[in-house]
Amino acid sequence: MERICPSVAGEQVFCVESPAPQCGLVVFGASGDLTKRKLIPALANLFKRGLLSEDFFFLGCGRKKLTDDDFRKIAADAVKDILPAAGKFLDGFHYISGDYSDSDFYGNIKKWLSNRDKKTGTIFYLSLPPSLYPQVVENLGRAELNKGDNDFVRLVVEKPFGRDLQSALELNDCLSKWFSEEQIYRIDHYLGKETVQNILMFRFANSIFEPVWNRDYIDHIQITIAESIGIETRGGYYDKSGALRDMFVNHMLSMLSLVAMEPPASFEAEHIRDEKIKLLRAIRPFNLAPWSEDIVRGQYDAGNIDGRQVPAYRQEADVEKNSKTETYIAVRLFVGNWRWQGVPFYLRTGKRLAQRVTEIAIVFKKVPHLMFASAGIEQLPANVLVLKIQPQEGIRLFFEAKRPGPKLCIGTLELDFNYAEIFGTDPPDAYQRLLLDCMLGDQTLFTRIDDVRLAWQLIDDVLNNWLQQDAQPPLYPAGGESFPQADTLIQKDGRNWRKISTRPGSPKSEM
Ligand SMILES: NC(=O)c1ccc[n+]([C@@H]2O[C@H](COP(=O)([O-])OP(=O)(O)OC[C@H]3O[C@@H](n4cnc5c(N)ncnc54)[C@H](OP(=O)(O)O)[C@@H]3O)[C@@H](O)[C@H]2O)c1
Repeated sequence: MERICPSVAGEQVFCVESPAPQCGLVVFGASGDLTKRKLIPALANLFKRGLLSEDFFFLGCGRKKLTDDDFRKIAADAVKDILPAAGKFLDGFHYISGDYSDSDFYGNIKKWLSNRDKKTGTIFYLSLPPSLYPQVVENLGRAELNKGDNDFVRLVVEKPFGRDLQSALELNDCLSKWFSEEQIYRIDHYLGKETVQNILMFRFANSIFEPVWNRDYIDHIQITIAESIGIETRGGYYDKSGALRDMFVNHMLSMLSLVAMEPPASFEAEHIRDEKIKLLRAIRPFNLAPWSEDIVRGQYDAGNIDGRQVPAYRQEADVEKNSKTETYIAVRLFVGNWRWQGVPFYLRTGKRLAQRVTEIAIVFKKVPHLMFASAGIEQLPANVLVLKIQPQEGIRLFFEAKRPGPKLCIGTLELDFNYAEIFGTDPPDAYQRLLLDCMLGDQTLFTRIDDVRLAWQLIDDVLNNWLQQDAQPPLYPAGGESFPQADTLIQKDGRNWRKISTRPGSPKSEM
């Protein structure tokens, strides 16, 4: 179905947006944070936009004893700013409580689903601690809830998908015992963000960028996910995970593959996912020799953010007092293929940094000949194209131009495009896109199992190496930009990290 989208300055807009088919969600762990903060608000927005089916249902499941009314009150609170009169939306909300290990629980869910007048598609969503995934999936399978009477059945799995290669493959064995790959939707919510999706449009819907998108014109690429928050209430999970597992293996590699992959033959899910895989396969293994410094880790110490004193990582709740978990990593990697031969990719992510910034910066080579040298201008900065992902989504291009006045006065200008300013609204939250795509059966933005396997293969040796070293990562002060080891990683190549603290202010929610 084609929909009219807001147009900017009367330009032509081509939009395709289909509403969801008849279906509903069965969410395990529905009393939790993700359901309240992300899933229910995203569904309310889809409802508001007329994209949910008439008889959409949301069946919350969990240990907590809640009635339908209790659950509707929780949902109403979650959507009060989106749908102040949410009656019709909430009619579809129900709750069943039970024990995840008890077959009766699944029997009750089956009974509830089969008592519905119409047979519709069902999406089981695991919004639970990952240790519970195998138990729930096994029970779904035994209760034959993995098969639809006359419509689709899908399974959505949240991150993290395993904690190393072996556990990811074990988890997958467990899922694939009962669900086919076409039924499994592995979430990487970064892929639901507009700007991340826009990488594909930007690269492949314009003819001016792709010709320079290679080793001949690009000096290097920097991908940054900087957070100013710490680990909040997630100490128990984070201390067993760390930045490499929490951010690099999924979000950072996903962004890298979209920015570096070859043009897919079409916008079909499998074509895009095939190209992502080819790119991941081309990433060279990390050199783990101590002198190579291709991967640097750090852990935040106490410090000051926005005038507020914050504790060291080791003093956070549910974190071991002598924890060696990394809260920062910086990586230099190479993609061994024709397009990217010799171009370094620098990736960094960290908590408790000066500001919240997620961006991909494409740093072009400097001009080959400086014709202004004779007039005293001996160097000019490189052009930089920045794909801004958080906190504001947009695109920024830095280029050189003549300044008014003296005969020769050159300065850097920037073209800065913000989604919110141009379209008068913030882009929809990632979960709206992902939930709708799952209802529509579009797996483009979900991670395929070969993607998961390659990503873990890439970092498995690093994790083992760190385990053997058993060393305390260097400390960096909370609220800082960087620290010497992370700087050395890029400076030894004669380059510098882009500053993160010059970006505009940081909203509260960071996930
Ligand atoms: N929250 C986020 O922003 C976020 C972001 C990205 C990914 N995720 C992923 O999404 C999933 C859910 O996240 P969440 O933040 O909503 O988790 P959560 O609030 O910690 O837990 C969700 C629900 O799981 C059940 N549960 C928790 N611990 C349990 C245990 N030990 N045994 C049995 N049931 C337990 C609880 O429901 P009952 O007691 O009613 O069963 C709880 O309400 C996780 O896999 C997480 O990694 C979350």
